[in-house]
Amino acid sequence: MSRNDGAEGDLELWNYFSRRSPRLRRKRAVLVYRVPLSWSGPKLPWKLLHAGLTLAAFILIVLGLVAVFEYHNKQGIANMYSLHSWLGLGAVLLFSCQWAMGFASFLLPWAPTWFRALYKPIHVFFGSAIIPLVVAACISGINEKLFFKLTSTTTPYSQLPAEAWFANILGMLILVFGLLVLFALAMPVWKRPDVNSQDTQEPLLQEDK
Ligand code: HEM
Repeated sequence: MSRNDGAEGDLELWNYFSRRSPRLRRKRAVLVYRVPLSWSGPKLPWKLLHAGLTLAAFILIVLGLVAVFEYHNKQGIANMYSLHSWLGLGAVLLFSCQWAMGFASFLLPWAPTWFRALYKPIHVFFGSAIIPLVVAACISGINEKLFFKLTSTTTPYSQLPAEAWFANILGMLILVFGLLVLFALAMPVWKRPDVNSQDTQEPLLQEDK
């Protein structure tokens, strides 16, 4: 395998990790509390599932980021020059803060109840805010790929070749998916009925007692 093949492999990894799996996992993860099955019985397993799925998404994002930085460095391409990379890194930083704050507030036992109650609406707001940021990063990434790959040596993008149809439809589907997730999060009837109950505000590690 040539050096360049390795770099292409890194880019494929980035495409897989960044554009597919974490995005879907993240959206499934934020909807965990909207599944009616989670409304009855103990909340602990659902909180652990929510934290676990978002952690899995975070690990895949980090692997994807390592792959894309390695690819850029091997190809001599500047890092972080595009709007897509700014949106993507912004989403990753926000996601990291969200996870760290969620973990420290809702999982560890030392966060006081008043703090958890204060932080919860902020957590829910930023959990939703990450979604449009991720959608924007995905769509700008797809656009970049179209501009870079569909040049004059292939059928140009402006002539709407089959690849452009595929990528445009993919972008539209990502947008619709993001809007559906935001809609599901905004619907009060799909909230867990005891959303402000005492056990929501108790740290996870105390719920077992
Ligand atoms: C980056 C990672 C995370 C994202 C994007 C995220 C996103 C969200 C969203 C959108 C909601 C609102 C769900 C709804 O209204 O149905 C939520 C609620 C919540 N999250 Fe997270 N979250 C993350 C990490 C965590 C972590 C690590 C914990 C720690 C256990 C946590 C604990 C909670 C709790 C306790 C709620 C409130 C559930 C309820 O309504 O009773 N989150 N999160």
